Amino acid sequence: MADTTVTMDKIVSLAKRRGFVFQSSEIYGGLSGAWDYGPQGVELKNRIARFWWKEMTQLHDNIVGIDAAILMHPRVWEASGHVENFTDPLVDCKKCKARFRADQIPPENLAARKCPECGGELTETRKFNLMFKTTLGPVEDESGLVYLRPETAQGIYVNFKNVQQSNRMKIPFGIAQIGKAFRNEIVTKNFIFRTCEFEQMEMQFFVKPGTDEEWFEYWRDQRWNYYRKLGIDMNKLRWHRHGPDELAHYAKDAYDIEFEFPMGFKELEGVHNRSNYDLSRHQQYSGKDLQYIDQDNGNERYIPFIIETSAGLTRQLLMLLCDAYEEQKIADKGNEDDWRTVLHFHPEVAPVTVAVLPLMKKDGLAELAQDVRAELKEDFATDYDQAGAIGRRYRRQDEIGTPFCVTIDYQSKEDGTVTVRDRDTMMQERVPRSQLSSYIRAKIKNYKRPERIS
Ligand code: GAP
Repeated sequence: MADTTVTMDKIVSLAKRRGFVFQSSEIYGGLSGAWDYGPQGVELKNRIARFWWKEMTQLHDNIVGIDAAILMHPRVWEASGHVENFTDPLVDCKKCKARFRADQIPPENLAARKCPECGGELTETRKFNLMFKTTLGPVEDESGLVYLRPETAQGIYVNFKNVQQSNRMKIPFGIAQIGKAFRNEIVTKNFIFRTCEFEQMEMQFFVKPGTDEEWFEYWRDQRWNYYRKLGIDMNKLRWHRHGPDELAHYAKDAYDIEFEFPMGFKELEGVHNRSNYDLSRHQQYSGKDLQYIDQDNGNERYIPFIIETSAGLTRQLLMLLCDAYEEQKIADKGNEDDWRTVLHFHPEVAPVTVAVLPLMKKDGLAELAQDVRAELKEDFATDYDQAGAIGRRYRRQDEIGTPFCVTIDYQSKEDGTVTVRDRDTMMQERVPRSQLSSYIRAKIKNYKRPERIS
């Protein structure tokens, strides 16, 4: 009986083999904490981003987007508390030179200052700021100091007034942003789970003080349902509420949505009630009035509270790979064709939506298949494959999670129909070519995640 457990090793191997994720600068031995997204990976990442963007902006009337610069005025990070508080406790082993986060080694080792790997002596714990520094301008001194942003949120806060006034937004309203963030993480194991360069999808929702708890519950609900829509196995998700010792300096209340990765339940996304900390601090540090004036209520003035939903885009990609991955036994012939590896992506996020495969290269089938593909590619991300046995070609598409394979056979030449193979059920249906696009569109709209076979 084969072991079909989903392990990180299997995910890493498939990700490389099928062009999802490669190690950064691999030919030079790699760079820890950085990864490159291949042809399938970038499609998947872009589609997750689009799915999230639609969910947050298109489906919520009162949310608009921005795209702020990665480099910001250094005072932003003083106001936000990052210069002072965005630190990890760090210890080094004097003997083997291994480096650890002090809060992630056994407490008895920390108390005895003993390295958990070689038993050598550990240094005193010191605070290590996770922000990457660089300099703006030609002179490398403190006067040009800037940081690579460690979160996208601050770009939203400093644009609160710009967005509110330019778009005449009324509270409650939200601002969404997707972009790169950088953190000099001490521990970057588990593939792309925790990296030094990553992408976030954050939404900051500005509300009247006193209504914040209600909106907090609303957004917890919304974010939970998002994962249902994305077709995630909801049994692998759970909530974790931050205890008093976990709460960030700005937070009134905070929950994480955790996903059961192969290494256990880990944070996927945070939903935070940030109180009026952020705008109060930026008002104080910038000297600019960041109060909201409620013209519908006698020009009442107040600093809004913020409910934040903060998701990692690249972490969500890892979640999707882990959640979608399945090794299925589909035959009993005693050879390697008995098994398939399949990624059950929701069709909205699958890197390729439709693959077009001629049964044979000859007798005009390849030309006909190319013609069908040309028609489909206006509407869908398509692939074309004529190399090898049809069964092998289906397996290749299963491995990148292509939900539909359209096969062109001899009957297609006769009566203008094609077969559409469903990735999850492997069932084939004959469809007139003229109805192919609408057939696929309907299938995507009504997609339901299948029950796991194994
Ligand atoms: N603005 C709030 C904020 O940044 P966070 O909990 O530090 O909160 C939010 O980060 C999300 O960003 C996390 O839930 C995770 O998905 C993602 N994330 C954070 N650090 C990451 C890293 N080093 N690598 C990959 N994703 C990361």
